[in-house]
Amino acid sequence: MMDIITTDIVIVGAGGAGLRAAIAVAEENPDLKVALLSKVYPMRSHTVAAEGGAAGVAKDEDSLDNHFNDTVTGGDWLCDQDAVDLFVREAPRELTQMEHWGCPWSREADGKVAVRPFGGMKVERTWYAADKTGFHMLHTLFQTSLKYPSIERYDEFYSTDLLVVDGRCSGVAAIEMRSGQLRLFRAKSVIIATGGAGRVFPFTTNGAIKTGDGMAMAYRAGVALKDMEFVQYHPTGLPGTGILITEGSRGEGGILVNKDDYRYLQDYDLGPPDPWPRKKAMELGPRDRLSQAFWHEQQRGRTISTPHGDVVHLDLRHLGEKKIDERLPMVRDLAISYVGVDPVHAPIPVRPVVHYTMGGIDTDIDAKTALDSLFTAGECACVSINGANRLGSNSLTELLVFGARAGLGAAKSAMAQNAHAEESAIQEAATMARDRVGRLFQSVGGGESVSGLRREMNMTMEAGAGIYRTDESLRQSCTVMNDIRARYANIELEDKSNVYNTDLIQALELGAMIDVAGAMIVSAQERKESRGSHQRLDFTERDDERYLKHSLAHYQADGDPDINYRDVVITRSQPGERVYGGEQK
Ligand code: FUM
Repeated sequence: MMDIITTDIVIVGAGGAGLRAAIAVAEENPDLKVALLSKVYPMRSHTVAAEGGAAGVAKDEDSLDNHFNDTVTGGDWLCDQDAVDLFVREAPRELTQMEHWGCPWSREADGKVAVRPFGGMKVERTWYAADKTGFHMLHTLFQTSLKYPSIERYDEFYSTDLLVVDGRCSGVAAIEMRSGQLRLFRAKSVIIATGGAGRVFPFTTNGAIKTGDGMAMAYRAGVALKDMEFVQYHPTGLPGTGILITEGSRGEGGILVNKDDYRYLQDYDLGPPDPWPRKKAMELGPRDRLSQAFWHEQQRGRTISTPHGDVVHLDLRHLGEKKIDERLPMVRDLAISYVGVDPVHAPIPVRPVVHYTMGGIDTDIDAKTALDSLFTAGECACVSINGANRLGSNSLTELLVFGARAGLGAAKSAMAQNAHAEESAIQEAATMARDRVGRLFQSVGGGESVSGLRREMNMTMEAGAGIYRTDESLRQSCTVMNDIRARYANIELEDKSNVYNTDLIQALELGAMIDVAGAMIVSAQERKESRGSHQRLDFTERDDERYLKHSLAHYQADGDPDINYRDVVITRSQPGERVYGGEQK
């Protein structure tokens, strides 16, 4: 028998979305008990690493329609337009709410909130706190959450499984990392807010904790993963580490040059696989296009070779020391610390780096999933407002808007239920969790190491499902991933102790990543077109006839996922050509 902790709502993940959801529950009904679980201390959640800002209409010359159109066009028309409409409407209110809770937004000289341009925007609308926006937002949410006694934190609890009783999500099984014990949380509703899965790839801006745990939990419990083939490369990461150099640096006027010191983006106004950013957009074109332009420069031998791969240069020198220190102080620190370059005096080497998973747990506009009483928000969820390519700075706002909706939905769902699931049913539902952990401890002589398998997975994902894909590259990755999945059964833990067993946690994280990677690869194989971040060299055109649809990957324990499709919600923007920089065709 395992210990059962009874609460009203369990939230898995205490980053921006999880904290925002917890606050929404507490505001809706302070009598509802919330158990907020995180595998790390909340201020170490990946939201803290976000740099450039959060999008929301702020200026008179901007409008909700502009934000809607930029988002839908940037997403290559794969966004659900009802969700985008709701998102852009709620965004300014949520960002203002953050201000009231203490978020120190940067200001203009006249005291107004400052906004900067980001890629794919027609009017600047990215609110920022210098280049540490995520840090300040997370701090603000964390401090606010402390006001509410109904929110009880369980830091350093690694959630392994959803507990499903009679078709309803009735709790979560989690390992208390301090003791190694499996604890069962019994609840009336559950929210997953565990972030993305960039660590499936070898070179990413994502912190080591972004291993797709929540996506895998929902997926194994029967909820589909939606649009998993869409993985965003951010055009400017530091070579070696993958640390993000914010798009804010280009928003402030930074330029990208190739090995000939040539501002190469001016060449990409036309050309395969479809129209490129027009001249005026240049560095402020959308991320998918900029990352693809890097790939073309590389094919043409115009990138700069380094021990950590090919790079181009991000030049900020013309901004001057004062502006760099005021607007981009962390970029300066990071460049000095990690590549030994002071951007005041020299250009920063950068290259595309996996940054964001547009896909995730299939959810509706109210953050509700197909599993009764299960809600989800943030990067682990796919609403979808991001479509085939997220607009930079929409994600911080997304976690506020949909985190709040998840909290509200979960609160209402909990209030509508009279009773919790029976304790015996909860124990029964936890069998899978117990077996999974037990198997890892018992395995001897299998010989597979977590780090070895993880490395193989990383390399095959990059080779097969990188910026450009083909049927052959995806097929090969699929074969390798199936092999890795089979060999995972032979993982041998080096550490069999209970207290803070990071070997065990990493093995469980790898299990989650293998499932999520499988969904990405098979979804990518099945989508025989090029759209947004999913670019195929063998199907170079967007094919609205066949693929103006969301893919839904359904878990199968003994093989590749089953993929089917759902129509995209189109309300007022018919699919068209993606044109940037004002030069409409
Ligand atoms: O470049 C950045 O600051 C990233 C922002 C985002 O992904 O939204």
